[in-house]
Amino acid sequence: MCSACGYESVKWIGRCPGCNNWNTFTEEIERTATPGRAISRGATSPSKLSEIESTNLLRVKTGIEEFDRVLGGGFVPGSVILLGGEPGIGKSTLLLQSVNKLKFPVLYVTGEESLQQIKMRAERLGIKSDNLFILAETSLEIIFDGIDKIKPGLVVIDSIQTIYNPQFENSPGTVTQIRECTNSLMEKTKRSGFATMIIGHINKDGVIAGPKILEHIVDTVLQFEGDSKSSHRLVRALKNRFGSANELGVFEMSADGLKEVKEPGLLFVNDRLTQIPGTVITAAYEGSRAVLVEVQALVTVSFFGNPQRVTTGYDNRKLSIILAVLEKRGGLRLSDKNVFVNVAGGLYLDEPAADLAVACAIVSALTDNRFQSGTVIFGELGLGGEIRTVSNTAKRLIESERLGLENAIIPKAPKDDLKNVKLNLNICTHIKEVINLLPPTVKGS
Ligand SMILES: Nc1ncnc2c1ncn2[C@@H]1O[C@H](COP(=O)(O)OP(=O)(O)OP(=O)(O)O)[C@@H](O)[C@H]1O
Ligand SMILES: [Mg+2]
Repeated sequence: MCSACGYESVKWIGRCPGCNNWNTFTEEIERTATPGRAISRGATSPSKLSEIESTNLLRVKTGIEEFDRVLGGGFVPGSVILLGGEPGIGKSTLLLQSVNKLKFPVLYVTGEESLQQIKMRAERLGIKSDNLFILAETSLEIIFDGIDKIKPGLVVIDSIQTIYNPQFENSPGTVTQIRECTNSLMEKTKRSGFATMIIGHINKDGVIAGPKILEHIVDTVLQFEGDSKSSHRLVRALKNRFGSANELGVFEMSADGLKEVKEPGLLFVNDRLTQIPGTVITAAYEGSRAVLVEVQALVTVSFFGNPQRVTTGYDNRKLSIILAVLEKRGGLRLSDKNVFVNVAGGLYLDEPAADLAVACAIVSALTDNRFQSGTVIFGELGLGGEIRTVSNTAKRLIESERLGLENAIIPKAPKDDLKNVKLNLNICTHIKEVINLLPPTVKGS
């Protein structure tokens, strides 16, 4: 079975036909019995939709606002939440911190660390909760016994790769064990009404068995991201059966744990007043809020036949398209230049609204000239050089204004979106107009 996508084959295959990854096939021993796996979520006979009683969804807040928002306003009892992330990013820290303020029993199952290690971390994070029970166990049966004894409102499993169900011969971490343990946990969670948070490891390529397979089973999938070399950490909802799947929570890792960044507006912008050529600010839309982000470009002459195009936090192919548009429609010569693009703070910009900011950063770097300071730039760039309207213009502009920017270079937008905006607006319809906004003195290198 492929450990990345779950593709099954009776013999070993070097390359998985399902996901094209190499060397992902592992042997799985066929299980002999199928224990009761059907999860009943209500009546056993079909019910008319109109006759099903509606209930208000109960949500429990952890008290960590950034985390609660990503969950859709708190976690829902009876739901299973998966938190995936690279090793050492801070998964255990986040979950330990988020259970601290809960007023009901919480069972924290650790299959990776000893009780003393957890105690040391808890002391470092200042966690003194009387409701927190720690169980250093990996057998699902003993974990279920612990749940029956404590009757927790929340169970944390750290991590699913270490847990095993003794009914199956496979070792912990194999696809079968991960899937079966999650299914059993899901069933117990739905029956007993507590919530379960599961930590799942992924490696740099995302190929290890785990989160990818689990994503289909669980209710909510959160991803913990961030460059382990920088202190910013982002929690993103990838799937949520109980809320928006686009929310973003921003944290900063410090010696005494993760600190919430409630005003991420300026986090990804260094010093906007002393901008250097090649640096522009864009307003990205993450989840339900706008975040100001710095986009930097560097353009150098290439002395070899094949100029380099390197991006961090931006798609390489999209950069190629933008360069082609700038060359063909903007009249700039870039085919013999190395172009480097960097999005600050470990953020990845994948929305079309970032196109114009990337284009402007490149133009600014190429001409060694900068746009007026305090300018926010966003818009979608078409292949004809036209600049297209993007969603949430009003929210992006309001956030830019609130954080002290004064000017905006944007595409046409509905009148209502621009009604109360006090920024100086440069509404552009073509990339040439944007290039012409650069002061004429240095332009045209
Ligand atoms: N004493 C310390 N002082 C400051 N930061 C620390 C300290 N100990 C740990 N950290 C931070 O916490 C991070 C590890 O956090 P944590 O153990 O929660 O991560 P994890 O994602 O659960 O890792 P794993 O995959 O190993 O379980 C480290 O990368 C480091 O940034
Ligand atoms: Mg951990």
